[in-house]
Amino acid sequence: MFARIAGVGSYLPGSPISNTDLIQRGVDTDNDWIVSRTGIKSRHLADAGCTSSELAYEASCRALESAGVKASEIDLIIVATSTPDFIFPSTACLLQSKLGNQGAMAFDVQAVCAGFIYALNLADKLIRSGSHKKALVVGADVFSKILDWDDRATCVLFGDGAGAVVVEASETPGILSAAAHADGSYNGILSVPGSVCGGKVTGDPFLRMDGQAVFKLAVRVLSEVAKECCEIAGVAPAEIDWLVPHQANIRIIESTAKKMGLGMDKVVVTVDRHGNTSAASIPLAFDLAVRDGRIARGQKVLLEGVGGGFTWGAVLLEF
Ligand code: ACO
Repeated sequence: MFARIAGVGSYLPGSPISNTDLIQRGVDTDNDWIVSRTGIKSRHLADAGCTSSELAYEASCRALESAGVKASEIDLIIVATSTPDFIFPSTACLLQSKLGNQGAMAFDVQAVCAGFIYALNLADKLIRSGSHKKALVVGADVFSKILDWDDRATCVLFGDGAGAVVVEASETPGILSAAAHADGSYNGILSVPGSVCGGKVTGDPFLRMDGQAVFKLAVRVLSEVAKECCEIAGVAPAEIDWLVPHQANIRIIESTAKKMGLGMDKVVVTVDRHGNTSAASIPLAFDLAVRDGRIARGQKVLLEGVGGGFTWGAVLLEF
């Protein structure tokens, strides 16, 4: 028994916001700096009142439609997010309510930009155990809510969005291998070190990052986990048709592809248009490449992500 991706969908709020638009909004930056260091040209930013569950709902409707599955048939909902609507209930339960589903197991996963990989890994295990048959796995984030717009080293890097997949039990090969890891000793290099206590925000509610430390660690762990996933599945990196990496920075993506011996013609890149949408970035890129016909049924696809925590992981699948 395999867990196989039956449908994909994604959603981006509003119109693209270019680097020049950010300058016009008062960010002290320049287009050449952002493009040369990160590859980002534009991103989508949600309106102030827009929530992760709203973005998740739009992406989920598209994934359900592409799978030909009704919301009522879903028995497992996992939402990867670091920007939940509330402390509780979970964004997954809010999404469940919006979809009109009742009875599915529903919970959030908090592994920042690796969250979708963690969630897909869990869905694979639950489906292959026989306890669940049809899962909705979503990555949704509204990072614009946790950005310090006076910190130009971070605010230009991120965007908002959601991506979703429907995963179902199948005798046809689907997910071939999955690996996920964390090293909490790196908690300080990428964090939002704030909380709510007694009705007040305590600590710092904005995203803080040591960019160079993140860069070095990301390149190392992404190539290690890609290799691990290939070894578990007995698939050589050269057999991979598409690499769909977390979209944080074009230089991280290029370094990882190079370490795996993959040409950039086999890599799905959306960071130029989406920026870093955290847990949403991998399913957003996956959906785009499925819909434009690059990723086809039967092809081998490696998804990989890395995020605050520090967390990282990969999933190798036959689409
Ligand atoms: N526009 C213009 N200048 C800027 C900007 C900006 N937006 N941001 C920083 N600068 C300036 C700094 O002020 C500094 O100027 P100074 O030398 O006069 O003081 C100069 O650029 C260099 O700053 P650094 O922070 O050292 O820049 P660096 O070369 O490290 O690049 C970057 C920063 C792009 C973030 C890089 O470290 C990187 O790619 N890190 C990877 C982290 C990443 O992608 N994180 C995404 C989230 S993490 C994740 O998803 C896993």
